[in-house]
Amino acid sequence: MTTTSTVNSLVQPLGEFPPESVVFGRTEAMQAVRDRLAKLAGANVPVLIQGESGTGKDIIARMIHAASPWKGGPWVKVNCPAIPGTLLESELFGYEKGAFTGAYGMKPGRVEMAHRGTLFLDEISELDLALQSKLLQLLQDGQFCRIGAQEDKKVEVRVVCATNRKLEEEIENGTFRADLFYRINVVNLHLPPLRERAADIPELVSYFLEYHNRKYNCRAKPLSGELMAVLRKYHWPGNIRELENLVKRYVILGSEEVISTDLAPRPQDFFNAEIPVDGQISLKKLTRQCVRELERKVILKVLQMHHWNRKQAAKALSISYRALLYKIRDAGLPSNRAARQRAVEVPPKQEVAAD
Ligand SMILES: Nc1ncnc2c1ncn2[C@@H]1O[C@H](COP(=O)(O)OP(=O)(O)OP(=O)(O)O)[C@@H](O)[C@H]1O
Ligand SMILES: [Mg+2]
Repeated sequence: MTTTSTVNSLVQPLGEFPPESVVFGRTEAMQAVRDRLAKLAGANVPVLIQGESGTGKDIIARMIHAASPWKGGPWVKVNCPAIPGTLLESELFGYEKGAFTGAYGMKPGRVEMAHRGTLFLDEISELDLALQSKLLQLLQDGQFCRIGAQEDKKVEVRVVCATNRKLEEEIENGTFRADLFYRINVVNLHLPPLRERAADIPELVSYFLEYHNRKYNCRAKPLSGELMAVLRKYHWPGNIRELENLVKRYVILGSEEVISTDLAPRPQDFFNAEIPVDGQISLKKLTRQCVRELERKVILKVLQMHHWNRKQAAKALSISYRALLYKIRDAGLPSNRAARQRAVEVPPKQEVAAD
């Protein structure tokens, strides 16, 4: 038999939110999300939240519940990939006594527990096609059937779904039902990646700094303007989660170096220069030039990140100090303070080597 405590354990607390000014920041895309959220919160329509991992889909889903007329009702989150496929149906829709071997008692599913509240289906693309049809029925007429039950049950629930995949592609691949997509996508919220919200980074950093200083009883100082400029240019593959973890590490370990070594540049960041491929091309020569140029840019960037401390830069590049000194000379990079500033603008030495 299902006890009240197991039922309640699936109805999670909503948790705290950062202030709205931090969550939505000042970029246009997030302002549009805020306006949409305010309009949709009160209407019982399904919402689809899309965005890369770490962009805040979870926070936004909780904010939708908190701003809805059902905020006093249950908030039930289902992390679809975390529940094995075979169990997901019974977790979502529940079962009757004797529905299958081992079903000794009746168990309500999470859909039922979310009655007069919000059901948040995280990573919706992980639902298999059979479960997608059951969900479609729920969205179409508010009815579902426990496994092994004779009759359908009715439930009033606001469904919010999230995904970091492109569902349109899943539809083309035949792994996601188009009709379900149109049902869950009545209102869509697209959360931009952090690299497109660079103007919001300082505010997020100061929020996380204060939050983690308080939480870990630390007194880490605000970040330097130099490092903040690096953060604004970084590509943030892990989005706000990555930024938060970075600030947390800084608060606990207390040094900016911990941050700069973590901000690994992408190889493609170094390939934005024009490559001359007109006329007669020597592939060998071109490849050598590209490798030298890439090496020069990487070394320069790492030196800048380490405030020109060559010992630290060598460590970050996983080469010996002597090897770095040799490469600095070879790439024509400056080794004294006065020449550093110019180095950023001066183009690399042109290689004149023959084939
Ligand atoms: N707008 C925001 N303001 C402040 N903190 C945020 C914001 N968005 C996300 N965060 C923080 O970043 C972390 C990741 O956020 P969240 O779990 O909501 O992302 P997600 O999009 O659901 O990621 P995933 O796809 O990996 O599940 C959390 O710790 C959250 O508190
Ligand atoms: Mg999430």
